Amino acid sequence: MTRQQYCIANWKMNKTPSEGAKFVNNFKIKDLYNSQVKIILCPPYPTLISVKEELIGGIELGAQNVHFETKGAFTGEVSTSMLKDLSCVWVILGHSERRHVFLEEDEIIQKKLVRVLKDGLHPILCIGETLTERESGKTETVLESQLNSALDGVDSETSNLVIAYEPVWAIGTGRTASLDMIADAHKTVRRILSNLGFNGQEISVLYGGSVNPDNAEELNSIDEIDGFLIGGASLKEDSFYQIYRSFK
Ligand code: PGA
Repeated sequence: MTRQQYCIANWKMNKTPSEGAKFVNNFKIKDLYNSQVKIILCPPYPTLISVKEELIGGIELGAQNVHFETKGAFTGEVSTSMLKDLSCVWVILGHSERRHVFLEEDEIIQKKLVRVLKDGLHPILCIGETLTERESGKTETVLESQLNSALDGVDSETSNLVIAYEPVWAIGTGRTASLDMIADAHKTVRRILSNLGFNGQEISVLYGGSVNPDNAEELNSIDEIDGFLIGGASLKEDSFYQIYRSFK
């Protein structure tokens, strides 16, 4: 089974519009030879504009969040139509920082996911357990509950749904999950997806959590991994490119 591979940069609250443009200018002159790997850049909202202006074919644009309503009195929020107007194709949803820092609940993530799909954008749905949950043997229960909630009401034939398995304790900590843990978690995710009526074997499941140029090749040796969602190591053109080169 060949699934689409992804190399996704999540810049979080980093890079001003001019820094974002500079990154793309330096990155796009590199040899982006691997047509099997989709490159997606997810800058903060204001930086979407300058990045869009410098983009070349083969690199797609994603946002880090979106609101579930279409427009109106929602101070500080951004709608799907605004993102589409900027040629955004992807939206990260359910990132652990949204869940744990901004206390975004499953119900909100589900509403956003339904909105994003309805309006023709593609969600990158993040799921993952905390360290306490892992240590108390609850990883599978957590993944199941997060997927179950987020995908409620979603057509099981939906294409372009991407899942990112990101153990919370591995994000930004320099601590990566072991290869066995990741392979097991990805198999679990596929089994849960299939139980929910989706084709678990066809949906790309990415790994995120302290991916860097030193561990990318080893991580990429796991068949279950269909690419990465990269935070810290995506901020420098060279390290992001080295990760891109680790794809077979
Ligand atoms: P990290 O972040 O690569 O800095 O651990 C990953 C993420 O939050 O998506």
